[in-house]
Amino acid sequence: MDNKMRCVLAILLAMTCISVNGEDPYLFHEWNVTYGTLSPLGVPQKVILINNQFPGPRINGTSNNNVHVNVFNHLDEPLLFTWNGIQQRKNSWQEGTLGTNCPIPPGKNYTYRFQVKDQIGSYYYYPTTGLLRAAGGYGPLTVVSRALIPVPFDKPEDDYTVLVGDWYTKSHTELRSMLDTGRGLGRPQGLVINGKSGKGDGKDEPMYTLTPGKTYRFRFCNVGMKDSINVRFQGHTMRLVEIEGSHVVQNVYDSLDIHLGQCLSVLVTADKEPKDYFIVASTRFTKEPHTATATIRYANSKSPASPQLPKAPEGWEWSLNQFRSFRWNLTNSAARPNPQGSYHYGKINISRTIKLVTSAGKVDGKLRYAINGISHVDPPTPIRLAQHYGVSDKVFKYDLIKDDYKPTGEDGQDKITLEPSVINGTWKSFVEFVIENPGKSVQSFHMSGYAFFAVSIEPGRWSPEKRKNYNLLDAVSRNTIQVYPNSFAVIMTALDNAGLWNIRVNSMEKHYLGQQFYLSVHAATVSLQDEYNMPDNNLLCGIVKDLPKPTPFRA
Ligand SMILES: *[C@@H]1O[C@H](CO)[C@@H](O)[C@H](O)[C@H]1NC(C)=O
Ligand SMILES: *[C@@H]1O[C@H](CO)[C@@H](O)[C@H](O)[C@H]1NC(C)=O
Ligand SMILES: *[C@@H]1O[C@H](CO)[C@@H](O)[C@H](O)[C@H]1NC(C)=O
Ligand SMILES: *[C@@H]1O[C@H](CO)[C@@H](O)[C@H](O)[C@H]1NC(C)=O
Ligand SMILES: *[C@@H]1O[C@H](CO)[C@@H](O)[C@H](O)[C@H]1NC(C)=O
Ligand SMILES: *[C@@H]1O[C@H](CO)[C@@H](O)[C@H](O)[C@H]1NC(C)=O
Repeated sequence: MDNKMRCVLAILLAMTCISVNGEDPYLFHEWNVTYGTLSPLGVPQKVILINNQFPGPRINGTSNNNVHVNVFNHLDEPLLFTWNGIQQRKNSWQEGTLGTNCPIPPGKNYTYRFQVKDQIGSYYYYPTTGLLRAAGGYGPLTVVSRALIPVPFDKPEDDYTVLVGDWYTKSHTELRSMLDTGRGLGRPQGLVINGKSGKGDGKDEPMYTLTPGKTYRFRFCNVGMKDSINVRFQGHTMRLVEIEGSHVVQNVYDSLDIHLGQCLSVLVTADKEPKDYFIVASTRFTKEPHTATATIRYANSKSPASPQLPKAPEGWEWSLNQFRSFRWNLTNSAARPNPQGSYHYGKINISRTIKLVTSAGKVDGKLRYAINGISHVDPPTPIRLAQHYGVSDKVFKYDLIKDDYKPTGEDGQDKITLEPSVINGTWKSFVEFVIENPGKSVQSFHMSGYAFFAVSIEPGRWSPEKRKNYNLLDAVSRNTIQVYPNSFAVIMTALDNAGLWNIRVNSMEKHYLGQQFYLSVHAATVSLQDEYNMPDNNLLCGIVKDLPKPTPFRA
C-alpha cells in the first residue's frame, strides 16, 4: 500500500492524516460545510458548521507542512475561505478572496493547497463571501515549529485556542439585506468565546481545565465583526509571547486589547488557589460594553469562580500605550519574518509612500465605505484570473487610488466612486503605508500575503516629520494594525511576495461595503520561481470561464 492509499484510508477513518515522502509532510483535511442550528447567545439561529463544528476544526500545521483542505460547499450560496495571516508565498491563488478566486458554487467542492512556512504563530480562517462570516464558519489555524527549532519559552502543558468575537442574533441573510439596501448593521447583540456565551453564574461547564503548577498557552484571536475586545483572566496575569507569528518581548499584562482580526498568544500559570476562574472578554470603546466569560477550572478546584469580574481599561490612549509596549524579541532564535536572518528594516530606504485615507459616504442614497475615495467592488471575473488570462483591461483599471490622497470632506466623509480597486506595487520595492483614520471609530487593517513592521501609531495627521518617531528597531512584524479615531498608523514591508493581495478593513460591514483594495505585485519578467502557476484544479468563472488556459504562466 503506498502512502497515498494509506492517506485516503486514514482520511476515511480520521479526516486528517500526514504522509511523509521525503518531501515536506502533508496535512489533509476534508470539510463538509453546512448550516446548523445553534444558540451562541441563547437564541436559536442558523450557523455555519464545518464537519458539524462551530467554531470549525483547528488546522494545526508544523512549519513547511503542505496543507490540503478539500471544502465541500453544502450551503445554498457561493463560498470561499481565507486563511487570515498565512502568507501564501508565491501563491495568492489560495487566498480565498473574490479578487483571487472564483467562489465554490453550492453543491461543489474545491481543494485549497498551500504550504505553511516558518510563521510560527496563531491565525484563523473564515468565509469571505456574502457576509457568511456573520453566521460563523470560522476556526483556528496555528503553526508550530519543527521539533529542532527552538521557541523562546518552555513547552507549555497544553495549547488552547480562544476565538473571541462579537455576534449578531440576526441571520447573515437579514444582515446582508440591511447592507444591500443602504442601512448599517447597528451594534452586535453580544460576545461569544469559541462560539459560546457563558452565563457566568458559576454553573457553566469549564471550557479549559488546568493542572495546578503548570503553564498553558492561550491563543486569542478577535474573530468578530465590529468591536475591539479586551481580554483578561481573573486572578492571573498573562505573559505575552507571540503576536501574529512574531515572538515578542515577554511582558506581563493584566489585560490585553485585541482589535478586529488580531491574534496573540499568552502564557498563564495555574499557580493560584485551586478553584474556578473566568476568562473575561469585553468590547472596548462602546457605550455599553458586552461581556462574555469562559470558565477555567483547576483540576483540583474546590469552588466556583467569583462573580467579581476584573474591570476593562477605559479609553483608547491606554490601548495606544499598550501597542507601544509590544516589541519584537530581537535576540530569540526562532522564526524571523522574510527575508530570513536578522532583518534591519529600519535601514532600508523607502521606495514609495502610499497614504491610505478611509472615508464613508452615500452613493445613490446608500451607505458605502472607501479608501482614498474608491469603494471597492468585486468584478464577476476575479482580478487575478483576469491578469492570468490577459484580459485585465476588460475587468478593472490599475491605480485608481493615488498615493497622496486628500479627502474632500470633514470627519471621514468623502465623495465616493464604486470601482474594482487595484494598486500596482513594484516587485521587491520597500513600501511605507500610512493609514489615516479621520473617523470616530477604531479601525483595524489587514494585509494579506505579507507580514509588515508596525512602526507607528499616533494621534493626528501624518507628515514626513513623523518619521522621526517611528520604531525602526524592534517593531513587531505582523499582519493586522489598528488605527484609532483621528489618528494614523504606519506599516512598512518589502514587496517580495508576488501575487494579488487583499488589503482590507476588518470591520465586516465596512469591508463588505467597499473598504478594501488589492495590491498587485508581479516581477517584470514572470517566472515560476517567483510565483506559482495557476493550480490545475482552479475554479473558473466570469469572462475567463471558457477561455483556453494560458500556458505556462502569465501575470
Ligand atoms: C462529508 O460528507 C460526506 C457525505 O455525507 C461523508 O461521506 C463524509 O464522510 C463527510 N466527511 C467528513 C470529514 O465529515
Ligand atoms: C500540533 O501538532 C504538533 C506536531 O504534530 C503536535 O506536537 C501538537 O501536539 C499539536 N497541537 C495540538 C494542540 O493539536
Ligand atoms: C473535489 O473533491 C475530489 C475528491 O472528492 C477531488 O478529487 C477534486 O480535486 C476536488 N475538486 C477540486 C476542484 O478541488
Ligand atoms: C528573547 O528571547 C530570548 C531567547 O529565547 C530569551 O532568552 C529572552 O528572555 C527574550 N527576551 C525578552 C526581553 O523577552
Ligand atoms: C539610501 O538613501 C541614502 C540617502 O538618499 C543614500 O545615501 C543611500 O545610499 C541609500 N541606501 C541604499 C541602500 O540605497
Ligand atoms: C506596474 O509597475 C511596474 C513598475 O513598477 C511597471 O513596470 C508595470 O508596467 C506596471 N504594470 C501595470 C499593469 O501598470
